Amino acid sequence: MLTLEKKNKVEAYIQEQLQHRESGDPICAYVYDLERLKTHAKGIKESLPASCRLYYAVKANPDRRLLEVLEPVIDGFEVASYGEISNVGEVSDKPMLFGGPGKKDREIRTALQTNVEYLNVESFHELNRMMHIAEQLSVTIPVLLRVNLSKNVSDSHIRMSGVPTQFGVDERDIPGLITHALQSDYIDIKGFHFHAMSNNLDAKSHVKFVGMCIEKSLSWKKQFALDASIVNVGGGIGINYWNPEEPFEWNILADGLADYHETYQEQDLTLFLEIGRYMVAGCGSYVSEVLDVKTNHDEHFAVIRGGSHHLRMPAAWKISHPFNVFSVEEWHYPFVRPEVIDAKLTIAGELCTPNDVLVRKEHVDRLRAGDIVIFQYAGAYGWTISHHDFLSHPHPEIVFI
Ligand SMILES: Cc1ncc(COP(=O)(O)O)c(C=O)c1O
Repeated sequence: MLTLEKKNKVEAYIQEQLQHRESGDPICAYVYDLERLKTHAKGIKESLPASCRLYYAVKANPDRRLLEVLEPVIDGFEVASYGEISNVGEVSDKPMLFGGPGKKDREIRTALQTNVEYLNVESFHELNRMMHIAEQLSVTIPVLLRVNLSKNVSDSHIRMSGVPTQFGVDERDIPGLITHALQSDYIDIKGFHFHAMSNNLDAKSHVKFVGMCIEKSLSWKKQFALDASIVNVGGGIGINYWNPEEPFEWNILADGLADYHETYQEQDLTLFLEIGRYMVAGCGSYVSEVLDVKTNHDEHFAVIRGGSHHLRMPAAWKISHPFNVFSVEEWHYPFVRPEVIDAKLTIAGELCTPNDVLVRKEHVDRLRAGDIVIFQYAGAYGWTISHHDFLSHPHPEIVFI
């Protein structure tokens, strides 16, 4: 939830901008609350049992300022490209996990000279390439084998596992993959990797999923007499964009992890979590000024300075992003101020495409041209996944409070 304190900080920023702006250019910014991020990350870390290690999935938001805040709190970083490896290398000596289905030979080679601790194996061919590179360099590569599970594990609408995808190796082929890896002196199987879903909102199903990952790992460990103690359950913890008042119940997951810690104490297992969205979504707000309000074919629309080229996720998922309205009383034009009152409204961006929509037919008490819309939970998969330069509008300010 957007706390009152957070809301006030963002609103204080807007107030200040309104008071001091000279150009008259509309407000458009990403506003990050770093203190809130630190508190949230610490809360996550402190809730985990001793057998869990907490990694931050950098792809959710690679901003250096966020990485610096997270660095002292977490155990390491999950990275998926050489770019991410070098960004992390600039702020931390902590270990990295290198995943991603399209690793290049050059990335694998350079990863081996950095703090990358484990590499995920995503396919037989990738395993062969790793063996080849490791032999050439006379090094042993510690790997986690990425599994695409046979069974669906949650109702989350984006799944990487339990369905045919480009990720990992079909669970049915994992014994063959292990057998192949064991033939090489240059590959050391350290465990398994199961990142399986995105934006799961059901904590109980997540606990079950983790239990399933542990059981699968233990059975392969036993079957092949592996010294493979790592069970990487990935990320996928959700943000309830539809109803932020009912967030993912983190305590249920934390309690479940504590139970597994007790149950499997004898087994020498370490559980890795690679959390992206849930870590950083709440610390970021995207704020944008309303340029126009109008009615078209009997439906109400607001057009903002900004849009999906800054915050692509609601357009990509075809959802309404949670928002609140910051009312601005000043009105400088000598003509009528367009507004909607007590109506359903679509909030669109400044791009020339009907897909540039951030909010779809949601109720507003009142919205006027010149008001500011605050999109909450914009800290994850926001700016970096968006197509910034389509139409060549200026980028938003990036502000840290
Ligand atoms: C391998 C891997 N781990 C972790 C994550 C982070 O997932 P989330 O942001 O849902 O926590 C991702 C996201 O795509 C991923 O691909």
